[in-house]
Amino acid sequence: MRARLERPATEVFVDRTFLMIKPEAVRSGKQGEIIDLLVKNRFRIVRMKQFAFDAPRARSFYAMHDGKHFFVDLVGYITSGDVVGIELEKEGAIELLRELVGATDPAKARPGTIRYMYGTDLQRNAVHASDSRESAEKELAIVFHEK
Ligand code: PPS
Repeated sequence: MRARLERPATEVFVDRTFLMIKPEAVRSGKQGEIIDLLVKNRFRIVRMKQFAFDAPRARSFYAMHDGKHFFVDLVGYITSGDVVGIELEKEGAIELLRELVGATDPAKARPGTIRYMYGTDLQRNAVHASDSRESAEKELAIVFHEK
C-alpha cells in the first residue's frame, strides 16, 4: 500500500517498508544507534515496537525460507530474544533501506551499511529489511497484528 500525502501543488507518493532489529543487536544494546542511522537517512518512523516472536509467528514471517537448510536454526534464533519492529516511510523506501542495510552476509556488506557495522555472520546480521512491497505488507501485518 502507498500512503498519499496531500500537498498544495503536487501529490507525493511515499513508500512504506519494514525493518527489524534482530536479537543479538537488541541484546548488545545497538537499537539506539541503528534507529539514529534510520533518522539521519531521513526515514520517517511510523510505528515501532519491541517484542518477542513465538515460533508459529516466526515460521510465518520467514515462510519463504521454509525448507532451506537454515530454516529451523533461523526460527530458533529469531525467537531467542526480543526484536524491534519498525515501520518506515520515505520515497523509494524499500530500495533505499536495502542499500542502507547492506548485503545479507556482513562479510560482504559495504562499509557504512548497518550490517557492516553491526552484523556478525549470515544469521546474526543485525537487521532484516523487506525486499519488496508485497513482503513489506505481509511483514507489517504479521508484526503489528493486522491479520
Ligand atoms: S537466500 O540465501 O537467498 O535465501 O538469502 P536471503 O533471501 O538474502 O535471506 C536469508 C535470510 O535467512 C537468514 N539466514 C541465512 N541465510 C543464508 N544462509 C544461512 N546459513 C542463514 N542463516 C540465517 C539471513 O539472515 C536472512 O535473514 P533476513 O532476516 O531476511 O536478513
